[in-house]
Amino acid sequence: MKKELKIPLIKDGTVIDHITAGNAVKVLHILDIPKKNTYVVSVAMNVNSKFGKKDIVKVENRELHPEEVNKIALIAPKATINIIRDYEVKKKYKVELPDEIVGIVRCSNPTCVSNANEPVKNRFKVINRDIPRIKCYYCEREPEDISERII
Ligand code: CTP
Ligand code: ZN
Repeated sequence: MKKELKIPLIKDGTVIDHITAGNAVKVLHILDIPKKNTYVVSVAMNVNSKFGKKDIVKVENRELHPEEVNKIALIAPKATINIIRDYEVKKKYKVELPDEIVGIVRCSNPTCVSNANEPVKNRFKVINRDIPRIKCYYCEREPEDISERII
């Protein structure tokens, strides 16, 4: 199959590739685009790839914080992060969910200790990776839609 380029190559920045089809908007939300910044961003959705349909997000002149990468792993577990410098892919890695998620997801149980005014940070155990599932470390509640609970 001939490779078809949906978005132009970028000179410098980050390409988030192999995003679960349809989830590009959630990735933009995680990166606080367009609210907090004015980075040049291009998006392709439902693009054909070797492994079925995918989304792609390209952010120019910006790299990602590890916390952002963990958030992306929760909604796009097969995503790859490509760091581009002077048109070359300088670094490529797959997102990977850690065993525990701390400080980035709010528990859906209103009476959970992590939602009380206690100095207790939200904390989840990752119980499934390919289709991400997490469970609160304190109350064992599993959020139904993780993307709705990302802080
Ligand atoms: N890319 C880009 N600008 C560049 C270089 C690459 O936007 N200057 C994008 C490509 O369009 C692709 C991603 O970065 O979406 C990864 O590039 P590359 O590793 O060359 O593509 P593949 O080999 O197809 O990647 P993979 O094997 O991860 O699917
Ligand atoms: Zn909880």
